[in-house]
Amino acid sequence: MRTVLVTGANGQLGSRLTENPGQSDLRIVGFDRDELDITAPQSIADALITHRPDVVINAAAYTAVDRAEEEPEPAHAINALGPQLLAEACAEHGIDLIHISTDYVFDGMQNRPYVPSDGPNPKGVYADSKRAGELALAATPGCRWWVVRVAWLCDTRGQNFMQTMLRLGQSGKALRVVNDQHGVPTFARPFAEALLKLAAHPELVPAGIWHYGPEGPTTWYGFAQAIFDGHGIDVELSPCTTADYPTPAERPAYSYLDGKAFAEALQLPYVHWKEALRHEIERG
Ligand SMILES: NC(=O)c1ccc[n+]([C@@H]2O[C@H](COP(=O)([O-])OP(=O)(O)OC[C@H]3O[C@@H](n4cnc5c(N)ncnc54)[C@H](OP(=O)(O)O)[C@@H]3O)[C@@H](O)[C@H]2O)c1
Repeated sequence: MRTVLVTGANGQLGSRLTENPGQSDLRIVGFDRDELDITAPQSIADALITHRPDVVINAAAYTAVDRAEEEPEPAHAINALGPQLLAEACAEHGIDLIHISTDYVFDGMQNRPYVPSDGPNPKGVYADSKRAGELALAATPGCRWWVVRVAWLCDTRGQNFMQTMLRLGQSGKALRVVNDQHGVPTFARPFAEALLKLAAHPELVPAGIWHYGPEGPTTWYGFAQAIFDGHGIDVELSPCTTADYPTPAERPAYSYLDGKAFAEALQLPYVHWKEALRHEIERG
């Protein structure tokens, strides 16, 4: 049985990983930030020596995209130095490393789905820090790594776009939602299932950079409409533009990651996001 060590185990993705959806042939040990700080080499070494995992999945990250503009140091420490330290420790102990990255490594100026060979051009502190984390893995000799990029991550629980829409929709007020950013809603639970399949069967997927996500795309407005339809909520919804809601960090106008190749390599179905949404609502 392979052992998987999950960092950031209290996060949106990390908590789904530690619930181990779908892969009964894995032993999973999850660590939150208090138990394993990825910016502290001794903390990493202690966990690896104690638990001797076959693979580490790094779900730890600094994800406060707007706040990062004001505090670049912690963003870079967690998103760039952390993956570097993990890669060095994994290389030393012969452990595989699966690291999660983001659509923000792209500038969003493309109008066709992003594939891993497309050139990154990060905009903003968070985006820069995540790209630096990818490069740190690539620069670490002796580490076998997979970077899996994901966008628009959400879940049927916790704090994310879907939960915000449900809360606002139930308030009965009219809503305006951005309709000029394009991407694909991606659910943490099937993403965790895919990552754990990779952890269990690394021979299926060559090491390197991959994109995960269902078939799409849509806009936040389109996603909001589908959330309300799926929950039978009748709300007055109208489209607006990014310019109507200025944010400290720039959002990519187009961030649809093409996840077909990754799904095929893992022998998983490549489903449309609306089907994925329906499935997640049914699962609760
Ligand atoms: N959410 C999205 O829409 C989205 C989109 C694209 C890509 N991603 C990527 O997907 C991955 C998972 O995101 P998520 O939504 O699950 O993020 P999340 O909910 O913010 O979880 C991140 C976790 O990392 C922990 N953490 C922070 N600093 C740490 C440290 N130094 N050592 C160990 N743990 C630390 C956090 O703990 P505390 O809460 O205690 O700080 C938190 O539990 C990230 O790599 C993110 O960049 C997310």
